[in-house]
Amino acid sequence: MLSLHGKTVAITGASGGIGEATARLLARRGAAVVLAARRSERIDAIARDIREEGGRAATCVVDVTKAEDLQRLVSAAIDRYGRIDVLVNNAGIAPISPLADLDTEGWSAMIDVNLRGMLNGVAAALPVFREQGAGHLVSIVSVAGLYGASPTMAVYAATKNAVRTVHEGLRRESTDGVVRTTAISPGYIRTDLADSMTDPRIREQTRKHMDVAGIPPAAVARAVAFALEQPDDVEIGEINVRPTVQA
Ligand SMILES: NC(=O)c1ccc[n+]([C@@H]2O[C@H](COP(=O)([O-])OP(=O)(O)OC[C@H]3O[C@@H](n4cnc5c(N)ncnc54)[C@H](OP(=O)(O)O)[C@@H]3O)[C@@H](O)[C@H]2O)c1
Repeated sequence: MLSLHGKTVAITGASGGIGEATARLLARRGAAVVLAARRSERIDAIARDIREEGGRAATCVVDVTKAEDLQRLVSAAIDRYGRIDVLVNNAGIAPISPLADLDTEGWSAMIDVNLRGMLNGVAAALPVFREQGAGHLVSIVSVAGLYGASPTMAVYAATKNAVRTVHEGLRRESTDGVVRTTAISPGYIRTDLADSMTDPRIREQTRKHMDVAGIPPAAVARAVAFALEQPDDVEIGEINVRPTVQA
């Protein structure tokens, strides 16, 4: 029996990187996956691939900054597969820069996607989880916020730490056993995340780190699968996944 058979998992930011790897792995382990992102052609192609491999996959075009898009995603999962067991809040951007640059647009964008996007997901999924009597929220945060913020990462790390705090709040409000929460903190993972970095020097530096030390996004996908494969009375609260060689 496949370990995730019977679970329906919606994944934001599934058009590439960690979200795509997670969708592919969870589908291989038996979950029905609903891939969400703005780039419809990419999620459609990945879903097609998954179906050709024998998996179950649907898509939903979603901009996580829009609350109604997350409502549509949850409805799409229920319409297609009858329920939504897991929301993987993975969509994220990292237009990082030194605070002194005053990139207020980048700050707002990170708050809107990384934090408000997650809250939009909570608002859409939580009532359904409660109605179903079960549900699991997984967020992809970052090691960037774990030990205070390193230079250029302050606002990015702040958004990730805010998500961590919301997770802890949700966990403490859910001790009736209905809702489980898992926050996964990746280190350097080889994805396109550096493309969202506006400062060319930081972008190139990050790309170099990712090329030299980065590990594949499947490493994070396996951590997501591990959290989802636990029995109902076991909650994996936090996992850090970083390259062995990362400082
Ligand atoms: N790579 C790393 O080293 C690393 C380390 C720590 C944490 N993380 C976190 O891991 C998560 C995934 O990032 P990644 O590394 O896989 O980067 P990625 O390849 O750039 O993927 C980011 C995903 O987010 C989606 N996205 C961005 N803005 C969105 C919006 N407004 N609405 C919906 N989707 C949106 C993108 O899809 P569309 O553009 O198609 O919408 C894309 O699928 C992020 O939360 C990131 O902060 C990554």
